[in-house]
Amino acid sequence: MTGPAKVAVAGLGAIGSKVAAALDAGLPGLKLVAVAAGEEAAARRLIASFREEVPILALGELAGLADIVVECLPPELFAELAGPTLAAGRTLIAASAGALLANEALVKMAAAHGGRIVVPSGALAGLDGLSAAAEAGLLSVRLVTRKPLRSLAQRVEVGGETIDLRDLAAPKRLYAGSVREAVAAFPVNVNVAASVAFAGLGPEQTQIEVWADPGASRNRHTLFVTSRAGAFTVEVENLPDPANPKTSSLTAYSLIACLRRLRAPFAVGS
Ligand SMILES: NC(=O)c1ccc[n+]([C@@H]2O[C@H](COP(=O)([O-])OP(=O)(O)OC[C@H]3O[C@@H](n4cnc5c(N)ncnc54)[C@H](O)[C@@H]3O)[C@@H](O)[C@H]2O)c1
Repeated sequence: MTGPAKVAVAGLGAIGSKVAAALDAGLPGLKLVAVAAGEEAAARRLIASFREEVPILALGELAGLADIVVECLPPELFAELAGPTLAAGRTLIAASAGALLANEALVKMAAAHGGRIVVPSGALAGLDGLSAAAEAGLLSVRLVTRKPLRSLAQRVEVGGETIDLRDLAAPKRLYAGSVREAVAAFPVNVNVAASVAFAGLGPEQTQIEVWADPGASRNRHTLFVTSRAGAFTVEVENLPDPANPKTSSLTAYSLIACLRRLRAPFAVGS
């Protein structure tokens, strides 16, 4: 490809605003050409701080202008963006990994039209090792998430049962099962769980546990992997993003790092 690849960012919330700003500041071989936004006035304020002005377009228009579309949307808008992007043979970099669990046909669409779906590590670390272990042959993949009480509702519904967390004095396991069942029974961490499932054994065979921990102050994810190449454990403690406390601060930087690796002459760690 000659010249920089053209990049559009869909959604300018906690993740998308940082990604768009990083593209405007300069990432190797990439040029920001358009954005899509839910709140136009806020988008205009952000763009006014950029070195170069870019147009604000509708979701369905981005693929007409860009080679790479970065999805940073509420998950219910994922398919509305992904469909036209992949049908046009573009690359979709997806933050809402969990939305792919209900839209797996999009992978076939990408294959049919020469498009690509790229899911960065997001709030987790270790997907590089998990992908390598998958090449060797995976034996088991288990994700354990511990959440402080302020990250959970006062009462949680798990598989039809209501659990009151207000007087919890010791850590309590709220859910254990496959990623596929977790999406219906206890849909927290759906992005991290989906990314682990897609990188490894798939949603049926990837196990997930969710704990409520009154002693914890941060979300902690621990990934346990055993494979024919050995075993590893990865633990991540995430700070909340100041713009959206439900999103881990690491996620935006994971997307920026993914974009930087796409065209860099020297790339480590993918
Ligand atoms: N992969 C991961 O590890 C990971 C981690 C955290 C969050 N996420 C996911 O990433 C996605 C984005 O997260 P976020 O924290 O930036 O969310 P956010 O709510 O801060 O931002 C979403 C943005 O989309 C905008 N929007 C709404 N309708 C739109 C439309 N029609 N066109 C364009 N923009 C529109 C909203 O105005 C908002 O600014 C979510 O689905 C979230 O679940 C993934």
